[in-house]
Amino acid sequence: MRLFYALWPDDRFAERLARAAADLPLAGDARRVPSDNFHVTLAFIGEVAASQLPVLRRMGGAQRAPECSITFDGFEYWSEAQVVVAVARESPPELIELSSALHRALSTSGAPPRVECAPRPLRAHVTLARKVTQAPVLQALSPIQWNVRSFSLVSSDTRGAHSVYTVVDTWPPLYEKPPP
Ligand code: 2AM
Repeated sequence: MRLFYALWPDDRFAERLARAAADLPLAGDARRVPSDNFHVTLAFIGEVAASQLPVLRRMGGAQRAPECSITFDGFEYWSEAQVVVAVARESPPELIELSSALHRALSTSGAPPRVECAPRPLRAHVTLARKVTQAPVLQALSPIQWNVRSFSLVSSDTRGAHSVYTVVDTWPPLYEKPPP
């Protein structure tokens, strides 16, 4: 099975982002990601045997992170990956740390698969379209806020035209931040 740790949005956020993305001018074979599939990848694991699932569940459950919010405030075209994404110009430090901690746990667990530590800190983004071969003219994105309260271990089936994602486990809530 193909697995990754990710943030999954609530319907309200996903609908707002889908409405904002509906006018993106995409040409040719570009494929819009259905709003049900919107997510922020924290750590990509890859193909693993089902027998690894308990280890990966424990690893997710062992993480602690404060709740936070992400403000998505721009569209970008990433030519190498051929994707259009919604980005947060500032990724919350809490999520950068959670993503790094997951990569650290994956790289030191000794269990397959061999996942390297993330080469760069997380840049929080939601992929909106794939197979975008020509740079589109991107409009501005009025800020949309996502209050992050949990993260998930997700499996993906990539055989169809669109990936089918299944949440395997979720760890809610990320603990409440103590008052300053
Ligand atoms: P992204 O779209 O959030 O950038 C599930 O497949 C998710 O894992 C995808 O949405 C993609 O992230 C990310 N992903 C897929 N293949 C990957 C790879 N080889 N390395 C890192 N991340 C990958």
